[in-house]
Amino acid sequence: MTTRTELAGQPELAPVPGRVFGIYIHVPFCATRCGYCDFNTYTPGELGGANPDGWLTALRVELRLAAENVGSVPVQTVFVGGGTPSLLGGAGLAAVLGAVRDNFELAVDAEVTTEANPESTSPEMFTTLREAGYTRISLGMQSAAPQVLAVLDRTHSPGRAPAAALEARAAGFEHVNIDLIYGTPGETDDDLRRSIDVAVGAGVDHVSAYSLIVEDGTALARRVRRGEIARPDDDVLAQRYELLDSRLSAAGLHWYEVSNWSRAGGECRHNLGYWDGGEWWGAGPGAHGFLGDTRWWNVKHPNAYAQALTENRLPIADFETLEARDRHVEDVMLRVRVRDGLPVALLDTEERARAENLCGEGLLLRQQDALVLTDRGRLLADAVVRDLLG
Ligand SMILES: C[S@@+](CC[C@H](N)C(=O)[O-])C[C@H]1O[C@@H](n2cnc3c(N)ncnc32)[C@H](O)[C@@H]1O
Ligand code: SF4
Repeated sequence: MTTRTELAGQPELAPVPGRVFGIYIHVPFCATRCGYCDFNTYTPGELGGANPDGWLTALRVELRLAAENVGSVPVQTVFVGGGTPSLLGGAGLAAVLGAVRDNFELAVDAEVTTEANPESTSPEMFTTLREAGYTRISLGMQSAAPQVLAVLDRTHSPGRAPAAALEARAAGFEHVNIDLIYGTPGETDDDLRRSIDVAVGAGVDHVSAYSLIVEDGTALARRVRRGEIARPDDDVLAQRYELLDSRLSAAGLHWYEVSNWSRAGGECRHNLGYWDGGEWWGAGPGAHGFLGDTRWWNVKHPNAYAQALTENRLPIADFETLEARDRHVEDVMLRVRVRDGLPVALLDTEERARAENLCGEGLLLRQQDALVLTDRGRLLADAVVRDLLG
């Protein structure tokens, strides 16, 4: 991998014809910081004068510069993530999509998602988003159990997330996701069962579920270190994953990536692009993009971001050029986690032999020309990747 640490000029940022192209937009604002979260996001006291209006002005410039680099490739997916995009309100998010449209051609059937925190949504906002052209809402519910939400520092009441999902559906959103976190200290099997039932009961067509990661530098990591709360236990996490998979499957939501379940047709096309060899422009503070063999990432703080764009230059912090081997490792890592599986044709002779062994151990299954994780393989996906790559 070639990494540039001192940026002079900018990398070559051109899409490869024929690959799916999407745009990710990062909204770096949150009302408060959840104790487990290490995403690039800022509470009002951390913004140093930056604000959503300044961010939107800078974003417009970045999207203009992006279009100048990328040319007239149609945008298949847009994903507005955060942070808390819903803090921008319906009109703010409509303006974000307007800025994309001013600079790019959206495919007729483009998928346009925004993340939203339940407490900063309303029925009117969902109507505005639908009218603006958003097609998908992703709600951070995390859990239906009040004591779990308290450990996670989430500010919404347990009932607000399913209510928001129902409001989004009533506003005409066919595609609604709920994010869950499982394995939080203090969560019981019954808490997770209830969280799943509440999500499914709100009629969503997609659930993402992540085990709680104790990220270094977070308030949660400090509490774990002080012994105030226990680190999530691996056996409990595996058991909770099995519970998620069986209950969601029984409700008609099937896994299509290790941490993602959907009804048929409800898969998130934007995320499939990340996993399946697509390309994207990442706009906004700290956003990562990937075009051709180049991965780049923007400066993190909204002030530094706005400053670069005021000077009419891309706010790139650094970039790396993936060599064939790096690209191969990534392909294996990402594609094996997807239900369609890892095409055998991608593997060299030694990897194919190791794949045979993994099939023998019941971790992979050969399905036509692809290798697919078995139920047990999904629990051990990281180890399967390590074994495959040797
Ligand atoms: C970074 S948030 C952004 C969206 C929104 N602010 C929210 O919190 O729902 C996206 C998702 O990442 C997941 N997430 C963030 N930090 C995590 C952690 N330490 N462990 C597990 N999941 C995490 C949560 O499920 C969250 O819904
Ligand atoms: S989890 Fe979501 S709401 Fe909480 S701090 Fe992170 S980005 Fe903000």
